[in-house]
Amino acid sequence: MSETSLSALSSESRRFDPPAGLAAAANVTADAYKHAAEDRSGFWAEQAGRLTWERPWDTVLDWQPPFATWFGGGRLNVSVNCLDRHVEAGLGDRVAYHWVGEPQEDRRTITYAELLAEVSKAAHALTELGVEAGDRVCIYLPMIPEAAIAMLACARIGAAHSVVFGGFSAQALIDRITDADAKLVITSDGGYRRGAPSALKPAVDEAVAQCPSVQNVLVVRRTGQDVAWGAKDLWWHDLVDHQPSTHSPEAFDAEQPLFLLYTSGTTGKPKGILHTSGGYLTQVAWTHWAVFDLKPETDVYWCTADVGWVTGHSYTVYGPLANAATSVLYEGTPDAGGKDRWWSIVEEFKVSILYTAPTAIRTFMKWGDELPRGRDLSSLRVLGSVGEPINPEAWMWYREVIGGGRCPIVDTWWQTETGAMMIAPLPGVTSCKPGSAMGPLPGISVDVVDHDGHGVGETGGGYLTLDEPWPAMLRGIWNDEQRFRDTYWSKFAGRYFAGDGAKWDENHVLWLLGRVDDVMNISGHRISTTEVESALVSHPSVAEAAVVGAADDTTGQAIVAFVTLTAAATAQDVGEPLLKDLRDHVAKEIGPIAKPKQIVIAPELPKTRSGKIMRRLLVDIAERRELGDVTTLADPTVVSAINDTMGAAVDGR
Ligand code: WT7
Repeated sequence: MSETSLSALSSESRRFDPPAGLAAAANVTADAYKHAAEDRSGFWAEQAGRLTWERPWDTVLDWQPPFATWFGGGRLNVSVNCLDRHVEAGLGDRVAYHWVGEPQEDRRTITYAELLAEVSKAAHALTELGVEAGDRVCIYLPMIPEAAIAMLACARIGAAHSVVFGGFSAQALIDRITDADAKLVITSDGGYRRGAPSALKPAVDEAVAQCPSVQNVLVVRRTGQDVAWGAKDLWWHDLVDHQPSTHSPEAFDAEQPLFLLYTSGTTGKPKGILHTSGGYLTQVAWTHWAVFDLKPETDVYWCTADVGWVTGHSYTVYGPLANAATSVLYEGTPDAGGKDRWWSIVEEFKVSILYTAPTAIRTFMKWGDELPRGRDLSSLRVLGSVGEPINPEAWMWYREVIGGGRCPIVDTWWQTETGAMMIAPLPGVTSCKPGSAMGPLPGISVDVVDHDGHGVGETGGGYLTLDEPWPAMLRGIWNDEQRFRDTYWSKFAGRYFAGDGAKWDENHVLWLLGRVDDVMNISGHRISTTEVESALVSHPSVAEAAVVGAADDTTGQAIVAFVTLTAAATAQDVGEPLLKDLRDHVAKEIGPIAKPKQIVIAPELPKTRSGKIMRRLLVDIAERRELGDVTTLADPTVVSAINDTMGAAVDGR
């Protein structure tokens, strides 16, 4: 973000107070900040009391930086907290999920009692397949109820799940299964994408052939399309459906691993972020209840994130279920069956809380006001945003056109690593500025620091750090303690460095400024430049590649790749077919989300005299801004050569 847009943001003077009615009945009031500041661990212990523990904890927090134990000695079962206790409290008939398939008429309503029965059966099935507490299970599914059922079944028996987003390729699956040493893969024949069945199982077949740790593949029949069948494959309906629908759960330690979720870092290899049980569930449950002002008896909540991302874990599955909320679960894309599909879903289920990403909001802005205006959205009362900074224009549009000017917007900053929301307004308390996540939640402490780790004070910009442990914090990177220490805890001693820049404005309101490292944020999804570069150089025609994230009106950032070709490839007449081939190659190596929007074939890459690629300069070129300082460049003419080639580059997906 440039300095000018930065100062424009921080001089944002509009403020929107909480609606009076909402404030009067809000779950959380301003007292929470004071109370939590006085006694942080007492505050979190109180929130942990929202859960049902089989054995109470001995200590709230044991902090041996960078390792935290939350609620040590406590024992609980996460799936019991999401299901059994609600059914026992008489809420068995409450709808847990209104599932909406991509095909127009596809619907499935699942009550808490039904979900408990399904999870119990799946838990028996996993046990029958030899899955034990402590094992890892890979889940590669579309947005169907079985995704949540599979996650909860793992939690129920103390196995950790590793959900891999269905848009990732076979290679990405191989890397994740191998790193986690997963015993079982749960997948489906396919899913629906824009009206047509799209296969998932072939990628699993390819992966399983290379992953000896996998003993079985459990396959949900979703589309009915043809699938190849191997010796390790079992149909979900053959194995799960006949199992007993009751299951006696065992309680596990508060620090029992709950899941691994792989995310991109600054090097090529994705990191397996480890989350555990008691602290994680405490913070996702509390934040889901507090930040959305959830009234579980009456609200209908919809988080549009896929379960393949952390938002889907924390705010489609664990948070809402721990709070006995009623949620919508939607399988498809925003334009499946018409560009007003989302608004028809809000209307049909009278959704009252909507949680989505700026990239989606900006897409809807482009599609025009008529579509949402053509639907009854009057049920909405709280709107959430997550994944990247939301620009004030999109914030205002969200508020006016979707929220009818009545609904507070909660812009929530957090990460795969933080597990749960960290920085966000409280809808009944905070007077919001459009585009800002406002400040840390009660119980959370942030500090914006300069290069040397010194706090910047009440106003000023720098690096966003978290200087106190929090219950849902990552407990490590799977199998890589050194990388855990190096990545998060070494830049500023004793504090977690998030990788984001941030700035306090003159009202001590916090503005998130995007990543300061080589990680791009495409439509709210993290992709590392190195990962895409490695994919590109693994193509036989590519000699060198440099990838940058360039500002994009819709997706926040777009991937722009600069490549130099091998002598052999240069000698041939390359052109468009090669560019297409390169983009397909990246899709195969990582997944379609990592396809560069633009590839520039350059004669050379701009480098410093020490041989470091000058990314800043490439971003300037990609965004077609005036060029930054080129005096440190080994060969300054390279830049103008690249600029000339830009005109000829292929654009669009
Ligand atoms: C990165 C984390 C949290 C779930 C989705 C992404 C960016 C996230 C915001 C926000 C500004 C945001 C940050 C962060 N980010 N939410 N409200 N305002 N930036 O999870 O893939 O782990 O990415 O997303 O840059 O570091 P993730």
